[in-house]
Amino acid sequence: MSSLGSRSSSPLPFSPDLHAIGVFDSGLGGLTVLKSLIEAYPHENFVYLGDTARLPYGGKSPETIREYAVQIMDDLAGAAKLKALVVACNSASSQVSESDWKGVPVFTVIEPGVRLALARTKNRHIGLMATRATVHSDAYGKKLRSLAPDARLVANACPLLVPLAEEGWVEDPITNLVVYRYVQPLLREGIDTLILGCTHYPILEASIRRAAGAGIELVHSGPAIAEAIRPCTGKATGTQGQVHLLTTDFNPVMQAQAERLLQPHKIDSLTWV
Ligand code: DGL
Repeated sequence: MSSLGSRSSSPLPFSPDLHAIGVFDSGLGGLTVLKSLIEAYPHENFVYLGDTARLPYGGKSPETIREYAVQIMDDLAGAAKLKALVVACNSASSQVSESDWKGVPVFTVIEPGVRLALARTKNRHIGLMATRATVHSDAYGKKLRSLAPDARLVANACPLLVPLAEEGWVEDPITNLVVYRYVQPLLREGIDTLILGCTHYPILEASIRRAAGAGIELVHSGPAIAEAIRPCTGKATGTQGQVHLLTTDFNPVMQAQAERLLQPHKIDSLTWV
């Protein structure tokens, strides 16, 4: 490991010629998505940028989220030779269009999540748990209606879940109660599939599963987007790729959080940029 937890005003701990997949999130929650990508493509290099200085995005206006997303995509596109840029953050995904950024193909989590939910649902009633920004954007609803006009989406904004996940209250009666309050209205609508539309929610999966019951399909962004980026990835080489984490702010708790969220995968560097 090199430069763990250091602030870097100088060169990044990898060459700008590094061929990598860029991953962007508002903070460290997107490591749940990065973990799925590493598992799908262990031979690829990854550069992850978490905008920890400006987290959370989920309560901010569409204009602010777009402005932040564009800055971060610029930074990532300039840091390495990107094969693809993955917007892991659902709140940011709901504000940027999937196309390309400075010649780099951009993938958001919205369409892969909707496609996976459609593949799993039997009764075409899909639930969404997400931040307020994602729910108010109706990005999931619009995508669902364009792909499957007969399907129905019911969404619930769950603003208390990000702080609980950040605190690591994963098997906690308070978290179970809060999750129950958010999940019940969706169940009453008759959903059979539930999109975890926020990077942090897979951390709380045990609580969400308990509240939803065994019969509900839970859809994560990570596996969904891992499939979507396959055309941008290379053949498996048997060699382990590099994993570099960049954050816009740093405190020692973040390092432990990052290591916990990615384990058993190793971080090659964590740099405060
Ligand atoms: N990463 C955000 C998302 O997936 C959650 C945290 C935040 O509000 O910034 O929507």
